[in-house]
Amino acid sequence: MSTSDVTDNTGTGAPVPPQTPQVGPADAARYESRFSALASGTTSSVMRDLMAITEKADIISLAGGLPDTETFPREIYDEIAGEIGTDFLASSLQYGPTDGMGELREQIAKVMADEGARARVDDIMITTGGQQAIDLSIRTFVDRGDTVMAEGPTYPGAAPCFTAYGADVTHVPMDDDGMREDLFEEAYERLVAEGRPPKILYTIPNFQNPAGVTMSLERREKLVEFAHEVGLLIIEDNPYGQIRFEGEPLPTLYELDDGAGWVVYLGTFSKILAPGMRVGWAVAPPQVLRKMNLGKQAADLCSSTYNQRFVTEYLKRYDYREHVARVCELYRGRRDAMLEALEARFPAEATWTRPRGGLFVWATLPDFIDTTALQAKALERQVAFVPGEGAFLDGRGKNSMRLNFSSVPESVITEGVGRLGEVIGDVIDLHDALNPGGR
Ligand SMILES: Cc1ncc(COP(=O)(O)O)c(C=O)c1O
Repeated sequence: MSTSDVTDNTGTGAPVPPQTPQVGPADAARYESRFSALASGTTSSVMRDLMAITEKADIISLAGGLPDTETFPREIYDEIAGEIGTDFLASSLQYGPTDGMGELREQIAKVMADEGARARVDDIMITTGGQQAIDLSIRTFVDRGDTVMAEGPTYPGAAPCFTAYGADVTHVPMDDDGMREDLFEEAYERLVAEGRPPKILYTIPNFQNPAGVTMSLERREKLVEFAHEVGLLIIEDNPYGQIRFEGEPLPTLYELDDGAGWVVYLGTFSKILAPGMRVGWAVAPPQVLRKMNLGKQAADLCSSTYNQRFVTEYLKRYDYREHVARVCELYRGRRDAMLEALEARFPAEATWTRPRGGLFVWATLPDFIDTTALQAKALERQVAFVPGEGAFLDGRGKNSMRLNFSSVPESVITEGVGRLGEVIGDVIDLHDALNPGGR
């Protein structure tokens, strides 16, 4: 029996082969003409496409944004899963409220307090991963053609949400202190003058994905002050705030907003527990939360009650911060290995960020290098990265790349960066040979 055969339900146990497809590539037009504008306008996340490639082959992947599976505390997971089966089976197999289990929302308020953010339990809504929180917040505020501001580069996984809802994204440059707040204000004023006032700012202040940099306290304060002054809504996405290797934690924008209601906060357990749980959350004023709730009703009724119970029990019984501390220790070593390898093996023409936490380094190459084209050469050498183009919605980023250091051991990082350095070096040599007069 082939793995795709199924057994019939007549009791004979006979295998039932799958249907032979009657629809081929020539029939594409049948669907094309019927696709909605939303489906037609949605672009794929470059990371998701790459994940499919890197999962298949025997490849060193510096492309993912994955926590190391070795960090998942197996015995604890076993224990909790066992107890859910005995003590909580009915409730964790039943539908739950759209905004999530009350007990979990209480635990989330405590997790946020660990980062110095005081949220009311009633203002918290559980989502299916942080990704759904992004989708729900964008769909709540953005109409086709609306202006949205975001860091440049921005989270590649947010790109499909922006394109799906037709956002016109203006990127704001960053430096080592995160988003350039002065340039943000400038761009904001210009957009207002052009009659395109931004609906929202989407920002990742801590250990930004993909750039790895963190917004300074001074810029956070100025940004929130400006938001209050002009009435700007900020979506603060904070999956990495606790994945800090050094330096003092900084207040969230949500906390600096001090209850004024100009910041919608998004969180997730993907990086502090495990992404497979698909448990994230949003914190927003009641008027906004109601709209997001309606969006979630349409999307999935409620997030997995089984997983919500699991995370609740984990948080009630264990100090998740011990796990986070272990994760940070591990990733700090890997970050160091990546920075050392970059120093030793990348060409002198390249520059890169030096993150103090999170999962990513962002590297910039000479502008004659197109990293999307480079990816094919890198894959021939069995190494993958995320080309920078996927992190911009305006076609920029072609000569940059995102490198992940959390999911493979230090020796593999060193090998992967070395191979990449050689591939880049070859392209530079070829370019120099073809342009003897210099660059
Ligand atoms: C900035 C950012 N937001 C949201 C997400 C999505 O998180 P989740 O896995 O909880 O859906 C990620 C995942 O990498 C991310 O980097």
